[in-house]
Amino acid sequence: MKRILVTGALGQIGSELVVSLRERYGDENVIATDIRLPSDVKLRDAGPFEFMDCLNPHHITRVMQIYNVDAIYHLAAILSAVGETKPDQAWQVNVNGLYNILEAARQYHCALFVPSSIGAFGQDTPKDKTPQDTIQRPDTMYGVTKVTGELLCDYYHKRFGLDTRGVRFPGLISYETEPGGGTTDYAVEIYIEALKYKKYTCYLEENTYLDMMYMPDAIRAMIDLMEADPNRLVHRNAFNVTAMNFTPAQIAAEIKKHIPDFEIEYKVDHVRQAIADSWPNSLDDSCAREEWGWNPTYDLESMTKDMLEKLAERIELPAEQKSR
Ligand code: NAD
Ligand code: SER
Repeated sequence: MKRILVTGALGQIGSELVVSLRERYGDENVIATDIRLPSDVKLRDAGPFEFMDCLNPHHITRVMQIYNVDAIYHLAAILSAVGETKPDQAWQVNVNGLYNILEAARQYHCALFVPSSIGAFGQDTPKDKTPQDTIQRPDTMYGVTKVTGELLCDYYHKRFGLDTRGVRFPGLISYETEPGGGTTDYAVEIYIEALKYKKYTCYLEENTYLDMMYMPDAIRAMIDLMEADPNRLVHRNAFNVTAMNFTPAQIAAEIKKHIPDFEIEYKVDHVRQAIADSWPNSLDDSCAREEWGWNPTYDLESMTKDMLEKLAERIELPAEQKSR
């Protein structure tokens, strides 16, 4: 039976990945860890939770010694927009934290999943259908840490034979947990504000193209890659994966089909716009499709329908909306 450790388990991805892994491998076999304590009953009571700071090797060793871990999903990180305001912290967590986890995986012989990002590309990267192997000269601290992480994971695989695997995620859209300070967060906020206020002020320009993915596809990507036959993997870390591609104007138009009086306006945040402008318009994910069968199920239309239905069941509407 597999024993799996998840770092950063209370974040946007971790809070859903832990639930899926527990369904698959058993509640007791998935150890959720973070530097915050869970308020969500599902995460707190269903299986083990440990306070673990990835910057503290003693914390990691303690958890590795208590649980007989076979695989780690390392999600603890600082995202792009927060990383530009706190570059020192972004380097500490995204690089030094990863290094500590790589060392633990090496010492305790664990497989390791580490997500990279579209943020690992930069201005010099081909923007449309960005290839798997291409120029990576990012000009954000987040991007610098993501390229460093990709290289470190490749190094540990080649040098020590560690079973490292990973994808470059686009912006992820989900309804369970709000995103943690990225540039693509608008694509989650827009659904929440559309339901609450029928209005959203977007911090990106209306024609900014970015790749995106709905969380159920992202969770499946992580699990499928970790279960893929290693003999088929030509690449290992940082597979380009994508599911859809749109601008703020296009997602707003899709929401309007469900909420006809929804309005979007734009008040551009130059820091996040500059980050988005440095990222690809769209990714070529053919290597992931060929090497481990990646194939997303949700597009903008099906995701929008599902997001609005799921959010409507969960969010607290303002009083004037409730009385309608
Ligand atoms: P998030 O910000 O929602 O969650 C990160 C979690 O890490 C938080 O719960 C935080 O408390 C925890 N954390 C921070 N510092 C820590 C430390 N020192 N030790 C332990 N835990 C710590 O992030 P996310 O969206 O879940 O992203 C997870 C990973 O996926 C990151 O590597 C991110 O770069 C990558 N990724 C995310 C997206 C996205 O759209 N969400 C897209 C591309 C890549
Ligand atoms: N969603 C992430 C961010 O915007 C992409 O890595 O930071």
